[in-house]
Amino acid sequence: MKILVTGGTGFIGSHTVVELINAGHEVVIVDNLVNSNKDVIGKIKRITKVRPLFYKVDVENKKALAKVFNEHKFDAVIHFAGLKAVGESVQKPLLYYRNNLDSTLTLLELMVEYDVKNILFSSSATVYGTPEVMPIKEEDPLGHTTNPYATTKLFIEQILQDFVSANPGFKAVSLRYFNPIGAHPSKLLGESPSDIPNNLMPYISKVANGKLEYLSVHGDNYDTVDGTGVRDYVHVVDLAHGHLLALKAFSFDKAYNYYNLGTGKGTSVLELIHAYEKANKIKIPYVIGPRRDGDIATSYADIEKAHIELGFSPQYTIKEACRHAFLYEKKQK
Ligand code: NAD
Ligand code: UD1
Repeated sequence: MKILVTGGTGFIGSHTVVELINAGHEVVIVDNLVNSNKDVIGKIKRITKVRPLFYKVDVENKKALAKVFNEHKFDAVIHFAGLKAVGESVQKPLLYYRNNLDSTLTLLELMVEYDVKNILFSSSATVYGTPEVMPIKEEDPLGHTTNPYATTKLFIEQILQDFVSANPGFKAVSLRYFNPIGAHPSKLLGESPSDIPNNLMPYISKVANGKLEYLSVHGDNYDTVDGTGVRDYVHVVDLAHGHLLALKAFSFDKAYNYYNLGTGKGTSVLELIHAYEKANKIKIPYVIGPRRDGDIATSYADIEKAHIELGFSPQYTIKEACRHAFLYEKKQK
């Protein structure tokens, strides 16, 4: 297939591009580089021996994006482009609504104009709000989102649903990611936020490499195995592979489909710290701090639907993810 990947130089997008190229697909990337670097293209080439075509384009810019659609006949779009910092979305809700919604609307309009019928969308477990039952199943209630970022994901899922019902023959698939971690085993691709990380794994990696002094564990009085928050951490390469598998959903009868992508297993903050220490034979200094606003005690996926319908079955262990994340961060300045 010839696939347009928006946000393809980002963390999950770049790993997915590698999987797509390795499986023989032709990839064209568009990204405005607001949260990534063009060097990623050369790194993808080092891994796959193929340099994907790259356009520095803001997906909100219809004229610039139309040029790309004009030059290529795509079979599908994978839409990663978006802003993703939860805290920033609370401070700057309009920026998040404008960027995430406008870019999606522009993309969908062009898909109609150029008759590109298939789209995979990066959704998030955050669309389940504060789920009451674990593991989380796709049919569990959505909504009661706790921040504007999460609400953009919920709105976009609804937009996609309305879009495919109004346009016969079009297919949309939302992939609800749980907690992506790790890095490419080549150490060439990964995530290393330039600001102080909000998410647990990049924070641990900065502490492990001496770039931050210690980790603060956000609360140890939850009703969980050791009192700390439990999440479903999935290796980014497994997640990327899930996109490759999800392409087959375009041939299913349902015009709109949605899948959880996680591992189906929960890991606590302390368990992750200890796995990281063991994988890399180092100590992670940490203190127990207060709970973080908006956090839930436990979140992990039921991945049966993705397993049965797509053949999704994550391969990497938490220990491997910890090793890859450490080695990637070590190479960053
Ligand atoms: P990322 O920031 O590394 O990648 C997103 C990419 O989109 C970046 O390269 C950025 O430059 C680009 N981008 C943003 N707005 C754009 C625009 N208007 N036009 C063109 N490019 C634009 O993030 P990621 O972790 O790779 O996430 C990819 C997608 O998955 C995002 O939509 C994110 O919300 C979603 N997601 C991520 C996580 C996670 O934990 N990383 C969890 C659930 C969902
Ligand atoms: C966060 C976002 C969520 C987003 C997801 C993936 C919030 C409230 N939620 O989820 O919307 O989809 O990232 O990008 O930000 N922790 C610490 N110390 C730290 C950092 C985290 O103890 O320094 C704990 C948290 O309390 C949580 C766990 O580690 O229990 C995982 O946190 P994080 O990596 O931020 O992911 P989520 O909270 O699941």
